[in-house]
Amino acid sequence: MGISWSLAPGFDNPSVIEAVVSVAANLKGVELKVKDIAEATLFLASDESSMYFSGHNLAVDGGFTVVPTTWIGSLMFSLLLLRGLEGKVAIITGAASGIGEAAAKLFVENGAFVVVADIQEELGLKVVASIAGPDVDRVIYKKCDVTVEKQVEETVAFAIEKYGTLDIMYSNAGIMGSWGSFLDMDMEEGFDRTMAVNLRGPASCIKHAA
Ligand SMILES: NC(=O)c1ccc[n+]([C@@H]2O[C@H](COP(=O)([O-])OP(=O)(O)OC[C@H]3O[C@@H](n4cnc5c(N)ncnc54)[C@H](O)[C@@H]3O)[C@@H](O)[C@H]2O)c1
Repeated sequence: MGISWSLAPGFDNPSVIEAVVSVAANLKGVELKVKDIAEATLFLASDESSMYFSGHNLAVDGGFTVVPTTWIGSLMFSLLLLRGLEGKVAIITGAASGIGEAAAKLFVENGAFVVVADIQEELGLKVVASIAGPDVDRVIYKKCDVTVEKQVEETVAFAIEKYGTLDIMYSNAGIMGSWGSFLDMDMEEGFDRTMAVNLRGPASCIKHAA
């Protein structure tokens, strides 16, 4: 069996693709680092973002966000966000590594109380120890598998019991899923597991945080 697909006119030309992507993302020549994405989610979670977005501040995924690319832009961005999460309580799923870990550090630096929710207990505790500093009560680890709704519910209850409220649910936990040919995909590990973590997980997080 073969699979065939076709591109829209012009989309077989790399310079057309680059132009479209750079216009859409305003990111020409910029490579986003973990900290850049964490900064974007810090903005999304802050009250300042309500000037641009309505509704509950719920940072869901930082994959497509524009951050300042000049030093003056970064400075203004940092001033705008100075202690931008003072007193807010956040759960960050998948915070034992990568973007979630960077966001946990940044959120605490900006005045938030953070629950590091992740399946990796040893790593999660290490992250907490590395962030906590003298104010050990600001950040805490809670084992949570986002594919298990009960654990998500318990994590929300844990945050409320510990810090009195919940302001931000950053549903960051995710996996890359299966690589390689679609035809060789393992439907359980490659598809079901990816959907459970990347789709069902955020749905449970939003349901129980809202
Ligand atoms: N890094 C990138 O370039 C990039 C780009 C776009 C989107 N993303 C998305 O951003 C998120 C974070 O990416 P990253 O690069 O920091 O990944 P990462 O692998 O470094 O971190 C993911 C974390 O999620 C945790 N996790 C996995 N399954 C979990 C589960 N069932 N329950 C709770 N925690 C679980 C892992 O233990 C890990 O600590 C992911 O959702 C990823 O798909 C990443």
